Parts: sequence; C-alpha cells; structure tokens
Amino acid sequence: MKDAQPRTIYLKDYRAPDYWIDETHLTFDLQPDATLVESRLKVRRNLDQGNDLPKLVLDGVELELVSVAIDGQSLSADEYVLYDESLELPVSRPAFELQILTRIKPESNTSLEGLYLSNGMYCTQCEAEGFRKITFYPDRPDVMSRFTTKVIAPRSYPVLLSNGNDIERGELDNDRHFVTWQDPFPKPSYLFALVAGDLEHVDETFTTKNGREVKLQLFTEPRNIHKCDHAMRSLKHSMRWDEEVYGREYDLDIFMIVAVDHFNMGAMENKGLNIFNSSCVLASPETATDAAFQRIEAIVGHEYFHNWSGNRVTCRDWFQLSLKEGFTVFRDAEFSADMNSAAVKRIEDVVLLRASQFAEDAGPMAHPIRPESYMEISNFYTLTVYEKGAEVVRMIHNIVGKEAFRKGSDLYFDRHDGQAATCEDFVAAMEEASGKDLEQFRNWYNQAGTPLLEVSDSFDEQKSEYHLHVKQSCPPTPGQKEKQPFHIPFAIGLLDSAGKDIPLNAQGDTQLVLDVTQTEQTFSFDGVGERPLPSLLRGFSAPVKLRYDYSAEQLAFLMSHDSDGFNRWDAGQRLALLVLEDLQAAYRAGEQLVLDTRLADAYRAVLEADDLDLAVRAKMLELPAEQIIAESSDAIDAEAIIAARSFLKQALAEALEPQLSNWYTRLDVEKPYSPSSADIAERSLKNTCLAYLVLLQKPEYRTLANKQFAQSGNMTDCAAALAALVNSGDEVLSRSALDAFYEKWQEDPLVFDQWLAIQAGSARFGTLQRVRDLLEHPAFELTSPNKVRSVVGAFAMRNFTQFHAGEGEGFDFLADFVIRLDKVNPQIAARLVTPITRWRKYQSPMQEFMHASLARVMAAGNLSKDLYEVVSKGLA
Ligand code: ARG
Ligand code: ZN
Repeated sequence: MKDAQPRTIYLKDYRAPDYWIDETHLTFDLQPDATLVESRLKVRRNLDQGNDLPKLVLDGVELELVSVAIDGQSLSADEYVLYDESLELPVSRPAFELQILTRIKPESNTSLEGLYLSNGMYCTQCEAEGFRKITFYPDRPDVMSRFTTKVIAPRSYPVLLSNGNDIERGELDNDRHFVTWQDPFPKPSYLFALVAGDLEHVDETFTTKNGREVKLQLFTEPRNIHKCDHAMRSLKHSMRWDEEVYGREYDLDIFMIVAVDHFNMGAMENKGLNIFNSSCVLASPETATDAAFQRIEAIVGHEYFHNWSGNRVTCRDWFQLSLKEGFTVFRDAEFSADMNSAAVKRIEDVVLLRASQFAEDAGPMAHPIRPESYMEISNFYTLTVYEKGAEVVRMIHNIVGKEAFRKGSDLYFDRHDGQAATCEDFVAAMEEASGKDLEQFRNWYNQAGTPLLEVSDSFDEQKSEYHLHVKQSCPPTPGQKEKQPFHIPFAIGLLDSAGKDIPLNAQGDTQLVLDVTQTEQTFSFDGVGERPLPSLLRGFSAPVKLRYDYSAEQLAFLMSHDSDGFNRWDAGQRLALLVLEDLQAAYRAGEQLVLDTRLADAYRAVLEADDLDLAVRAKMLELPAEQIIAESSDAIDAEAIIAARSFLKQALAEALEPQLSNWYTRLDVEKPYSPSSADIAERSLKNTCLAYLVLLQKPEYRTLANKQFAQSGNMTDCAAALAALVNSGDEVLSRSALDAFYEKWQEDPLVFDQWLAIQAGSARFGTLQRVRDLLEHPAFELTSPNKVRSVVGAFAMRNFTQFHAGEGEGFDFLADFVIRLDKVNPQIAARLVTPITRWRKYQSPMQEFMHASLARVMAAGNLSKDLYEVVSKGLA
C-alpha cells in the first residue's frame, strides 16, 4: 500500500547508519520478466552508534523476496518483517554474512530507475534511490562498500559490464555466459551500474600524468558506432584538463561510457562505467547541432570530473547533493570555458540561471542549495542545486582567489578521500586553505531565494569622491520569511566619459570585488575626477538581481565601451528589457507600438562594430527570452510580453535589414564542418541573422532559408533553416521542409527528436493541435523521456508564446498529459508539471486558468510521490 501522503525527510534528523556493509557480492541472472539477484553482504555493527544490536532495516521497493539467510541459516517468514518499502531483520551478532535472493522485472520497469530495458539492452540508474529497486540494501550514500558483481546472461547479450575491472569470464549451460567485475574502491549503492546488450565499442588509451595506461571504451548499438568520435575526444580532453587544473588523475585501468536511448537525465557518473543518455554522447556533423556538440563535451566532462568530486569523495546524505553537483558543474563550466569561447559560455550559463533558476527560486518549490527537507529526492535535482550551487562555488573562487581555491580543493580531496562528506567540509577546507573568513558566506547554503541588490550612487565634485550605496534584500520563500544578509562578492569598475576604466586604488586596479555583507553599505572611491558610469556585477560575480537606474543612453554606452565582455552583453539585455517594458505598457494602454530607435541604433552598432567576437555579437543580438522578461515583472502579463517581444523582433528585423543580410551573405560560405569555436561562432551569427530576416514578409529571404535547408551539409545550418521556415508563418514552405526532413531522418531517433521539438517549439498559431498530433505519431513513445521532452517539454517549458496562448488550453493539455505520464514515469511527470505550479506569479485570468489545471492534477488522485510533492507544494 502506498501512503496517502508521502513522508517528509528532514536534514536535522540525519543519523549515521547502524550497520556498515564492508563487502557486497552480487550475482545477476538476467531475464526480462524474472531477473534473479543474489546478494551476499558482509555486515558489521557501527559501534559509534552503540554496542547494542538493533534490527537491521534495509530499503527495498517493488521487489519479490525469494529468500533470506544469515550466516547460512535461512530465515522463515515469521523471523523478519517485510514492509512496503523496507525489510527488517533480527540481528544477534555484531558481524555476520547476509544472503538475500530477490526477483525483479526489468521489462516492465518504465520508471527508468533501478534495472530496466532500453531497446532490448539492460541498464541501470541508481542515483539517487534506484538501487532499492534491485535488491534489499541500506540504500544511502554514507554506506560505502566494496562491490563484486557477476553478470549472467544469454550469449545473445555478448557485452556484460559493471563497475571496476573484469576479473573472470566464462561459459555456462543453456547458451549463457558470465563476466565478473570487481571494483576496488568502496562506493555507495547509487554508483553501482550494470549493462548487458549486443553492443559495439570504440577503444582508445589514455596515459595519465604518472604514466599509467587507461583503456577507454565507448559502447553503443552497432548502428551508432560512427557517432562516437566527439565524445571520445571530449573524454580525453577532460582527463587531461582535470590533471592540469585540479591535479586529479584517473584511478582505474578502464573507463567506460555506454549510450542508452531511454534515460531520465543527461548522464550518470557510476564508478568506471558512466551511463549516458544517447543524446549526450552521439554526434556526427550531419545529425547533431553545434549546441549538441557542446553539450556532449560539457556532459562527458561533468561525469568524468565526478570521479573525484562525487565518487572518491561522495555525499553523506542527499541534502548534501550540491556538494558534488554544484562543484562539478563549476568544474565543467570552467572546462567548457577553456575549450571554447569563455565569454559565450558565461553568457549561456547566466541566461539559464535568469530564465529558469530565478523562477524556481521565486516559486513554490524554492529551496536552498542545501535543502532542509524533501518528500522525493528526485525532485531536488534542480537548477538550484546544480546551477546556483555552481555559482556559489564560483563565488568562493572569486573571494579566495584562484591559487587559494586550488589549495582548498587539494585539501578537501586529500582530507576526505574515501569518505562521504558534507557541504560544510568543503567550505571548511576552503576557509582553512585561504585563511578567509567564510562564516557569513555559509548563508548561501541555508537560504533560498534570489537576493536583490539595489544600487544608487552619488558624486562629490569638490572632493572628487564617488560613492556607491548598496542595499541587499531577499524575498521570503516557503518556510523562510526572514533572511540574514548574504556575503556577496560584487565586482565593479568605473568608466570615464571616454569609456576608459578609472583606476580605483593606489595600485591602479580598474576592477574591484567589493564585499557586500550588510543590509545597507556605502563604498567610497576618491581621486575620481569626473562623475563616472559604474559597470556593476561584472562577470555576474554573484547570482543576484541587480537594480540600478541606468538610462537607455548609459546602457548603449556600456554596450560599446565596457572592458568587461560579459557586461557589454548584459548592458544590451538591460536596454532591451527597458524597451520591452515600455512596449508592454503601450500594449496594455492600447497604444500603437513603436520601435525605440535607441535600441535599433545600439543593435546596429553591434552589427557594425569591428572589434566584437562573432559569437558574442550573435548573443548580443538575441532579445531576452520571454521567461527572463517575465522574471523582471511582479505580476506576469503573458499576453503583453508576447506582443511586445514579437513586435520588437519584427521591428528590429525591418530596421536592420541591410546589416543582417550583409552578415548573412558574408558568412554563407561552404566549408567542411568543424565544431571549433571559430566555426560555431560564424554559424551562430549567420543563423541569428537568418532568424530575423525570415520575419520580413519577403520571398527572397524565405528562398534563402529554403536553400540553406536543402543544401547545408550539417545539422546546425539545416535545423536553423528549418526552424526559421517554421517560424516564418509560411505554411507551404514549412510543411514541405518538415516533410522532407522527416523523409530523410525518420530512422534516426535523435534527429527525429529535433523534428518533434522544432514543431512543438513553433511560435506560430496552431501549435497545440500540432502537439496533440505529434503525440499520436507512430514513432512517439510515452516511455521515452527524450520524446516526451521533445514534444511536451518543448511546448510547455520552452514555447512561452504558444503555451500561454488562448484561455488556458495549453495548461489543460499539460495537466492531462502529466496525469497520464505519472503512471509511466513519475520523475519526468513531476518535472513537466512545473510551469503550471507558478500560477501565483501571473495576472488574472491566466492565474485562474493555471490554478484550475493544477488542481485537476491533484484531483486525479493516486499520484506518485514525485508528482504529489510538486503539485501539493504548488497548491499550498
Ligand atoms: N548525478 C547525475 C549527474 O549529475 C544525475 C543523476 C540524476 N538522477 C536522478 N534521479 N534525477 O550527472
Ligand atoms: Zn552531476
């Protein structure tokens, strides 16, 4: 029986485990509908918890218990208690061997947690609490054990993998064979993995800095074997980078990556055997976009870096998730910045934070990067824990400086190697290594919500003194009404009237990181000859909202003069937001919308500047996403946002046509595809120009898009042209392009996903009906998270215009879909429902429509723990 209302787990209730598991010996006899799992555990009382012998409680979900024995003695059913999600065993000795036999059904496991089948191949996903769907076990990260795994399967599954090194293999009766794997490093159960299938692999070797040879293997279904090069290259770059930047070397003789089609997230860092969503491994120029190439590099890096930040040093409990995720996202961001354009990487990360994490921080699920409670931990693999968590690590980096940060990370890894650690351990190591006081900084771990910095300034001409007045606040979040002030590293510079940086101290520094620690604070600068223009929060030095009363002219000036590349881009964003606010007001007042020429001039200057990096230039021409515009208003008026933004896009296209078309022509050159940052930058600017140009009702630009669609040799240009056509509103051209694309790519699931997403993401009318039709497409599968994301995710999470169109039909559709999906895959259902949990932020009547749809989900009853938590908090 399921509890009517799931239990809430609290960080304050943490207790060390009663028993340790020194060794874990598993034997899997694989069968789709009846896999036998034999587990032999060496159990030992944790004497720190006392000398008594309490009952041993093991986690277990949806398992069939076949038998249980202690030190070879079988237990009868009246000697143990089997609950819905646990097994309670009597203990009479402080150390003993426990033997448990369970039976599971991978074939009917659609939750994609535990052991399941994906296109006929067996694979596992155990983080966070999936291991309990495989066998009874203390499924918590502070129980670390040495694993040996024997995998038995029919010979039609030639590849049998698990963690560590393979120590034995052989043939068995009934056309079966086996391989035994041994992992020398103690690990928690969430890092366990198993794969069995008919797979091919590519092999390489990597020599570590100490001269050890590591075998690298990438496994996929045979049809995808030609799509592995980029991931393999990214893996080697990651291994080298972690040696050079963090001094971390790989520690096993073999490192394997397996690509699977059915996967809830991006990828998983299982020890020595990473399992990836195929969309995050497989790429070829013809089938994958630049964005996919870069995502692959980032995620391969991310999972590899977990070998130290996550595996060698793991988490004590799931409240500490950001210890490994925040740190590892920071590491992968720095890796991507080193491999590509650092400025663009920073811009993309900040866009993600502003568009999505800020909304999370302002919504009903808001939580600190170290949450205090949860019902279902899967719901806390969030942008807050990951991306804001990475920003918190970045702030430490900024406060203590690069060298002390490296000393701190060395100390952290040395001190906690082989342990399950806490966020506090990490901060303490940084504090010790740097000698900097991080006491107040710790508030970032405890408090949810996005802080607001309100900045004003004054200039005393007589004394040549300039003052910055900084006020910080943080809005209340669920369960946290009052907030303590944060320690905010606030990077600033001051520009003179020529646009040059003014020296800010005797050493001549032109940029300072101010320590904002109080609710209100004033910073003074002397020797300032003229009233300067401040460049604030350079490089986005802290994950906060910044308010300063810039005029449009000042922002235009910063756009062309700020020495901080990030802030040049950000000034453009702020200017566009100012203009969009005016347009929204005009729309509401029923006035005619007119283009603010100051913005057009500023964008023209961007197009014409000769010192601007092409990739940054493309970013500077992108208007803030609707979600970012929405974030900046207290009561979201979706209709006004959509009207203002689409008017502005169109008006800019008209005003800048010569420059846009000029750039397009200049960059429209044929050359072999390379995912180098220079080439990516060119394609990015070219396709940004194209997206504007097709908005003009001129046949020549549609022809251009059509030509690019038909002739491009790479998916970046092909998909951009297709999206441009679909968004142009030309039904005939877009239908024929979509049909041609489908004809060509229907057999490639990852490209088919793009075909789905481009349609579900179309800003043109009729999208909801198209979305409904796509769900009926024979190749759509409810059991494939990638397909669900490509249709329903693209519509509800990324198509602001169409999702909010009409009178809430989009919300109703989402509610119905989520109710249906919850029976198949609760994790994905709980994620997808998020947009309608933000109803409070909307104006009437959108708010009522959203609320009604959300209430309908709750009323459906019998929700999974995952969905129940998100919906109930959304209604509270
Ligand atoms: N640790 C994985 C990663 O960040 C993600 C695991 C996601 N698991 C989950 N249950 N949501 O790379
Ligand atoms: Zn991770």
